[in-house]
Amino acid sequence: MSIISLIFLITLQITTTYSTLLPQTTNNLNSEQQHYYNPKLPPRVFTTSNKFEGSSDLVHLRYHMGPVLSSPININIIWYGKWTPQQKLVIKDFILSISATHREATSPSVSEWWRTATLYADQTNSNVSRSVLISGEYVDHLYSQGNHLTRLTIQQVIANAVKSAPFQVNHKNGIYLILTSSDVTMQDFCRAVCGFHYFTFPSMVGYTLPYAWVGNSGKQCPEVCAYPFAVPGYMGKGGPGALIPPNGDVGVDGMISVIGHELAELASNPLVNAWYAGEDPTAPTEIGDLCEGLYGTGGGGGYIGQVMKDRVGRTFNLNGRRARKFMVQWIWSPVIKACAGPNALD
Ligand SMILES: *[C@@H]1O[C@H](CO)[C@@H](O)[C@H](O)[C@H]1NC(C)=O
Repeated sequence: MSIISLIFLITLQITTTYSTLLPQTTNNLNSEQQHYYNPKLPPRVFTTSNKFEGSSDLVHLRYHMGPVLSSPININIIWYGKWTPQQKLVIKDFILSISATHREATSPSVSEWWRTATLYADQTNSNVSRSVLISGEYVDHLYSQGNHLTRLTIQQVIANAVKSAPFQVNHKNGIYLILTSSDVTMQDFCRAVCGFHYFTFPSMVGYTLPYAWVGNSGKQCPEVCAYPFAVPGYMGKGGPGALIPPNGDVGVDGMISVIGHELAELASNPLVNAWYAGEDPTAPTEIGDLCEGLYGTGGGGGYIGQVMKDRVGRTFNLNGRRARKFMVQWIWSPVIKACAGPNALD
């Protein structure tokens, strides 16, 4: 297909889907800058969770009567270990893009992606909030619990942060996001998880607070947790290699998708008693798990699907504030009963 007809198609798609959200000029600007393509990487073999890519009648996502995060979601970030200002900026720009307006980020945007999460409601008919803020940051650069963490010691990290003066506990809508640098190992990291979410125990932290942990896999297992910006060695030979990350940092760009995954699940299942599939609450399949590894139309079975490439070849599927670009997996929509994202072509 020629570039011109491709641009026409993209413009048509964006116009038909988002004409109510965006002024026409933005569409034109957008289609000049980004081109859809399908990287056709070989299917990824390392998986970290159950997958039901695309749509499936076999998915029985059920509501278990607990609350969702419906008031504005205040995120307290804990930076554990060594983080550069540049890395922090990329991650904060992603989080702040969730509630950015269409003037701040062109379509397909991070905030349009989050709309799928806001389709989940609880028994009080309160939906997951559209508003996500960063209400505090805490730096644990001296590795207070060492450079190997467990699901238990991570609660100690949160307890320390909660005790520190500027960090106010907000039971109602405060959540904690613990980000560990690339030199920090975590129980089950790489082997079974790239991130997880849970809630703290009053005996350790003093309160029940929902939290998520995501690690920088850059030095430990990027081919597992930062795929497709790193691919296993055997895949590179002769075939297409790793894709170029949108913000130039394999570990951090890989974390963005995992952070998106965990935030969507935390919001729809904060106390692990709201939205999940499967009968076992100790191993729930949640709205991010159902779409892991899927970033665009035509993905599934290990293929990432149609995403975009900018002029210098960086791959992404969502626009954020301050002209940032991100690559974020889709999430399960309770309305269409399939994985959904704003860069969909059909
Ligand atoms: C809130 O959730 C309900 C139930 O899932 C959904 O039908 C509705 O569209 C959602 N409302 C908004 C504003 O997203």
